[in-house]
Amino acid sequence: MDFNKEAIADRLVGRYIGNVIRFFNEAGSTNDIAFNLALHGAPEGTIVIADLQTKGKGRMKRVWQSPPRCNLYTSIILRPLTDPASTAQIPLMTGVAAAETLSRYCPSDVTLKWPNDVQIRGRKVCGILTEMKAAKGPWVNFVIVGIGININIRKENFDESFREIATSLKEETGKDISRLDFAVEFYDYFEKWYRTWVKMGFEPIREAWLAYSSMVGRQVQVVFQGDIRKGEVHGIDDSGAMILEDEYGIIKKIMAGDATLIRQ
Ligand code: BTN
Repeated sequence: MDFNKEAIADRLVGRYIGNVIRFFNEAGSTNDIAFNLALHGAPEGTIVIADLQTKGKGRMKRVWQSPPRCNLYTSIILRPLTDPASTAQIPLMTGVAAAETLSRYCPSDVTLKWPNDVQIRGRKVCGILTEMKAAKGPWVNFVIVGIGININIRKENFDESFREIATSLKEETGKDISRLDFAVEFYDYFEKWYRTWVKMGFEPIREAWLAYSSMVGRQVQVVFQGDIRKGEVHGIDDSGAMILEDEYGIIKKIMAGDATLIRQ
């Protein structure tokens, strides 16, 4: 199945997300390309897609494994009329869109893990990295939403360190998945959730996010720069922070880190 600019453009005619498409057979990082395009005035809804990334970026300066011909690596330019603090809601909104898309292939097995991992049967299948450019006034200039989704990569091709914690749609379904179909479905869900967020704010996003999350009411451990916090998850607030109740009953807001469920 062809996965190229023409095929994608053909399927996205008339859409807001995907009104401009930049496709690369090889790129450093689609986030870096999108950031640069946005600096030069590219409109909201522009999407950048690469078949292969040589410098795929993950959260916390990690590398995002990006081999050719198997996965989706894409970045979307947004220019919301919002203050910088509210942009923390965008990765959660993106997680919901990715979870809905993945659920079409693996119903009931998709979960969201704070802050923005999407998992199938407890293994990571999608990562989200947003980057923002502030402006002089109260609104942001633009936000780049980078999404990496493991579609047809085989388990043996993951770096050894990810093999037990990551998965792909092919591994989970046993089938080859059309990247074209998947990408078009994802952009459609993304557009739907972005419009919802712009019109109705964070509440519907929080509700959908919590419905996909397996974390509320569970004990977790969050590690951030060597600091370990433990507690029971109560939810997420408007800044995207995780609300934790620690062992002394004190409510804490956790802004960043890697969360793991504690088995009991
Ligand atoms: C994570 O660490 O979970 C976030 C991974 C985000 C990867 C995507 S792939 C497309 C876009 N371009 C990048 O360089 N990173 C994001």
